[in-house]
Amino acid sequence: MSRRLLVTGGAGFIGSNFVHHVLEHTDDHLTVLDKLTYAGNRASLDGLPANRFRFVQGDITDRNLVDELFADADAVVHYAAESHNDNSLDNPRPFLDTNIVGTYTLLEAARKHDRRFHHISTDEVYGDLELDDPQRFTESTPYDPSSPYSATKAGSDLLVRAWVRSFGVRATISNCSNNYGPYQHVEKFIPRQITNVIRGIRPKLYGSGENVRDWIHADDHSSAVLTILDKGAIGETYLIGADGEKNNREVVELILELMGQPGDTYDHVTDRAGHDLRYAIDSTKLRSELGWSPAYRDFRAGLEATIRWYRDNESWWAGTKDGVEAFYAAKGQ
Ligand code: NAD
Ligand code: TYD
Repeated sequence: MSRRLLVTGGAGFIGSNFVHHVLEHTDDHLTVLDKLTYAGNRASLDGLPANRFRFVQGDITDRNLVDELFADADAVVHYAAESHNDNSLDNPRPFLDTNIVGTYTLLEAARKHDRRFHHISTDEVYGDLELDDPQRFTESTPYDPSSPYSATKAGSDLLVRAWVRSFGVRATISNCSNNYGPYQHVEKFIPRQITNVIRGIRPKLYGSGENVRDWIHADDHSSAVLTILDKGAIGETYLIGADGEKNNREVVELILELMGQPGDTYDHVTDRAGHDLRYAIDSTKLRSELGWSPAYRDFRAGLEATIRWYRDNESWWAGTKDGVEAFYAAKGQ
């Protein structure tokens, strides 16, 4: 049956992948609400069918606009956020406004209109793990965020839980590991290094490069979110991950190899303050209770396709590259 979905942050990296995924795999009608901050790109949604897709530029903290859009939706998937750790160390305020006040504004509308609400979050709310820790994050790992970004995402998750318990809002939460794929802003690790190599700049590894991230393709994140929207139990949290642990050095070396460069042509630069060591997700609950599994199991093939996308879509990222590199250069990164 066709639903009317409201997707916040649908012009960002993961939100736009979700929009493409839903249009391809369902009959749903979509409205995207996105402020088009520096991180949003309208071009990521070019060419979508006008009879099933509508774009509204606006802020999730705008109560009247949010109210109007919730009235017209059957369900809401909330991706909009300030999402970059390095920016949150530089200027935390927008993270509080969007991630905390924005989520609060949406929850009040979900409560008023009694709408199904799915909140997108991150595994970074759990803090980090030691490199040799046999444990991975589960739904019962205590919250222990490290950065202003992860602290505001943790705060937003707790607001969702409180609105479920106190007001009966029909919400679910997912916490996903690091995503890769097309349409990711060049400030982030993988696209920064790919576009560096395209531009003849050496990739930049923070600190030792031993930090581990658990990579999942954005399309697998989208299929997991659709599964939770369809079958998830109200009030529950689901961790999303695809068993993709790699350290940053391995990822840079693989990018260099796939792009035909010598494996050691990268620089170690100033480490991130408070840099989380390792993230790792145990997604047993999502797999066993809701029957989800990832389609992208070969990181090398997924990365190769992502490199091809950045080579083929230089006009999508070229306008932002110099500004991002100037921001990092000023911090010795
Ligand atoms: P992104 O920065 O690429 O996109 C964020 C989008 O939200 C942008 O289009 C931006 O314009 C929009 N936005 C920001 N503030 C807004 C506001 N006040 N009102 C309306 N729109 C606003 O982020 P992303 O990487 O696509 O992440 C999306 C969500 O997924 C976030 O909630 C993030 O915490 C979560 N997440 C990301 C990852 C990852 O690896 N990138 C992993 C797990 C979870
Ligand atoms: P990032 O993409 O910012 O995601 P997150 O902070 O949410 O994990 O960074 C991924 C990893 O890559 C993280 O350990 C920081 C590191 N990193 C670099 O080594 N070099 C870079 O240029 C960037 C942007 C990140």
